[in-house]
Amino acid sequence: MNASISPDQLPVLLRQHKQEHLLAYLDSLAPPAREQLASDIVNVDFALMERLYGKTTPVAGEDTPQAKAARATALEDVVRQPASADDEQAWQSAHQQGLELLRAGKVAAVLVAGGQGTRLGFPHPKGMFPIGPVSNVTLFQIFFEQIKARSAQAGVVIPYYIMTSDATHEDTEKFLEEHNYFGLDRGTVKLFKQGTMPAVDAATGQLLVGDDDLLVRSPDGHGGILNALAKNGIFDQLAERGIEYLYYHQVDNPTGILCEPALLGFHAMRRSDMTTKVAAKRSADEKMGVLALVDGKTEIIEYSDMPTDVAEKLDSRGNLMFWAGNMAVHVFNVDFLRRITFGETQLPYHTAHKKVPFKSAEGEVQSPKTPNAYKFERFIFDALPLAYKTLVVEADRKREFNPVKNAEGNDSPATSKEALINLHRSWLQQAGVSVPADCVVEISPLFALDAEGVQARANELKLEGSSVYLK
Ligand code: UTP
Repeated sequence: MNASISPDQLPVLLRQHKQEHLLAYLDSLAPPAREQLASDIVNVDFALMERLYGKTTPVAGEDTPQAKAARATALEDVVRQPASADDEQAWQSAHQQGLELLRAGKVAAVLVAGGQGTRLGFPHPKGMFPIGPVSNVTLFQIFFEQIKARSAQAGVVIPYYIMTSDATHEDTEKFLEEHNYFGLDRGTVKLFKQGTMPAVDAATGQLLVGDDDLLVRSPDGHGGILNALAKNGIFDQLAERGIEYLYYHQVDNPTGILCEPALLGFHAMRRSDMTTKVAAKRSADEKMGVLALVDGKTEIIEYSDMPTDVAEKLDSRGNLMFWAGNMAVHVFNVDFLRRITFGETQLPYHTAHKKVPFKSAEGEVQSPKTPNAYKFERFIFDALPLAYKTLVVEADRKREFNPVKNAEGNDSPATSKEALINLHRSWLQQAGVSVPADCVVEISPLFALDAEGVQARANELKLEGSSVYLK
């Protein structure tokens, strides 16, 4: 950053970095817009932008994601879902170990909620989407209630960190304030905003100016969480609070288990730096990134980089070799995150070629019909190959992975609600409660977090009517 640059040094800086086209924009503006654009410009990391733009031209012989996918091999260190009494025992002891970590106050949860949710097309932050099949409660409410219930189970207050973005911050904060943080103590919930990255013209690498007379910027991706944690003083706060592990989850999955003790336990017992939950892919062509080994290191291969013949590879038992779909649930050692935030090896940037509206120097707004610009973002899963030790743990897919991504079809509100109904019905049935076939049930995390929780309260239950919300 060049925050110490004075306005009269700006022309020199811009010429030095081949961005002198911005002088015409500055000249065309009157104060205070001129000062605002100038201060936006001095905050750009020009060296970084030059490096990223330079990388958009392929270099002969350079390793590509597709080449990596072609030499990927099957994962070796995976904890599968329990299939034997011994497995059950291992999961039980991991659960106990995880509960100990929670009880000792060593765990905080972190939610990434800065995405724009374009596929869902909901006009608010996705966390405000009403997903409760009976109650209409929002995704946020389900997560907050889970944190509250897990805190009660562990007998500690689990801090909850929520990453927002320019696109979601104000609405999220207002919504949570209005709902009194769903009963969580305000002092233990922290909202923090992710950063942005300027977009550049694809043909020239020039920074683009938008209709608002500021540089065109976009969110820096969920991997932007590392800089955002640093910038908002959260690493220091975690150290003060004695937090050693972060339990990371996304905003779109109402059946996700927050601060799952067994996942935390496996992570600690195996001395992992980063542990990832995976779900078995339904088919070779399911659009899901998979975890695999590349040159001996655990990596996520995005589905768009996976050649069909590699995706379809089978192991000796006839099962998909690359079955382990990324659920975007991770446990991180805070020390590991600190190393890849402040150390020399950091998350890489990915480039996306997009249609980006901008304002010409003559003041006309252009809305390109074909991709004209590069946007840059970071992905948190790129931390995997940077870890000394990783672990992969398989989830029960039906129970745990029912995200809301699309407005209709697969991974939509309809499929996610149906999964919630089936899950909660099964908890009641496991507790010996009979549920009329036409009765829709929903269980708040405050009533029970799982089948055992329902079992413990089975004598309180009387199901009447066609829909029941237990809270
Ligand atoms: P997705 O990749 O599903 O993106 O984000 P999205 O923005 O929610 O939805 P689409 O692709 O536009 O339809 C996965 C998770 O990462 C968060 C999202 O909020 C979600 O929890 N995310 C994504 C961020 O926090 N910041 C980002 O810049 C991108």
